Amino acid sequence: MGRHTWRRSLKWSLATSALLLLAAQFVPVARTNPPLGIEVDAPPEVMSVLKRSCYDCHSNETRWPWYSRIAPASWLAAKDVREGREAVNYSTWGRYDSEERAELQRETWEDVEEGEMPLRIYTLMHPDARLSQTDRTVLRDWGLQSGYVEEDDRDSMGELDDKDP
Ligand code: HEC
Repeated sequence: MGRHTWRRSLKWSLATSALLLLAAQFVPVARTNPPLGIEVDAPPEVMSVLKRSCYDCHSNETRWPWYSRIAPASWLAAKDVREGREAVNYSTWGRYDSEERAELQRETWEDVEEGEMPLRIYTLMHPDARLSQTDRTVLRDWGLQSGYVEEDDRDSMGELDDKDP
């Protein structure tokens, strides 16, 4: 390929990309905040961590950020919020039965402990949402109070009991 043809095709692909990006802005994105239900009932220090670091994806009180207005970032943000609310929604805690509440309370800590939550892409854009050591301790204490026992734990506890003389 000659130098000039190469340049021309580069110009074309840049122009096409710009057009596609422009067109992408017209794809509708649902930035919703559905009605609030019975909210999670946790001590104030837990609530303040959840609200600061988790509520944008796990509540119906999402503060939609500026980049959620620009495609394709808007699509990713909307997807995280949709899937986040499906996984656990602290705004509609009353919809879970007591076992589900205990399990989610426990998972809230486990996901933080494993470093899975808050999502890294989010803390990159929201440095305030990073968890301090104190925040982690607050979530741990709450998570461990859940009284939730996993299926596996129940089994192994049973085994231990059996072996006990
Ligand atoms: C940027 C959005 C976002 C933020 C912020 C966020 N999460 Fe999530 N969370 C998700 C998504 C998406 C999922 C579902 C997919 C997955 O598990 O990765 C999820 C899943 C979960 C789950 C369920 C996991 C399971 O096994 O079902 C828990 C619990 C959770 N998050 C807790 C938290 C906590 C606690 C925080 C704050 C410290 C937090 N998340 C912050 C997006 C987010």
